[in-house]
Amino acid sequence: MKSGIGRLITLEGIDGSGKSTALPHIASRLGEELPDRRLVLSAEPTKGPVGRIIRSNLSGTPTSGSPHEQPACIQKACYRQAQAAARMNELFLFFADHAQHLASTIIPALEDGSIILCDRYADSTAAYQGVTLREVLPDPVAWIQSILLPWNRPPDMTLLFLIDPRAAMQRMQSRSGREKFERLEFLQSVDENFRRMAAAEPKRFVLIDAEKEERRVAQDAVEAILRRLSL
Ligand code: TYD
Repeated sequence: MKSGIGRLITLEGIDGSGKSTALPHIASRLGEELPDRRLVLSAEPTKGPVGRIIRSNLSGTPTSGSPHEQPACIQKACYRQAQAAARMNELFLFFADHAQHLASTIIPALEDGSIILCDRYADSTAAYQGVTLREVLPDPVAWIQSILLPWNRPPDMTLLFLIDPRAAMQRMQSRSGREKFERLEFLQSVDENFRRMAAAEPKRFVLIDAEKEERRVAQDAVEAILRRLSL
């Protein structure tokens, strides 16, 4: 389902891959290269109502009814069931945030002819919740992708920032306020999901070596965008 005349470029990668740091540099370089195009910067989770709930859950200061509250059940089977339900709750929050983002920002900006640079998008849902739901669903990545298919607007291009999860963890050690997904084994599994997804869609994904020096990473990203999208 493609709409509008704009372009949607998403940035993906594990926590600590440096995509959020690169984004303003990419935007300013693209602005110089394409002075006549309108640039829109966005991100998921969004700053909207659902995005705010998600962020407060991720930062470990759960709001009431948060999926990250430990399930109250004591019996093992009940605990597992409650935990599975909590993880589905989290997935649906990400879906709701994405749906709202599409309706209120992405589709209108595309119709307007803008180039959108989006820091995380639906691929993050497949890669991250594809890990949290491993014990709940037989093939969570494929299931999540199948739910998105009828209503999602796929990106024209996805820059996947690749970094060894150990190096990403090291980068994050200096940050304050660690979030719940920032654990090595978890990020290794997310990294595997992202790499598999990129291999399945080589036309959409561009791999960016995120271990390079900051300015080089942004430069590589801009060159890839200009080369691939014929803007
Ligand atoms: P973000 O603020 O982009 O983290 P960072 O700046 O470290 O990249 O995203 C917050 C966290 O939410 C991040 O760990 C990835 C996770 N996430 C999901 O689990 N599913 C999703 O659908 C999205 C968009 C993000």
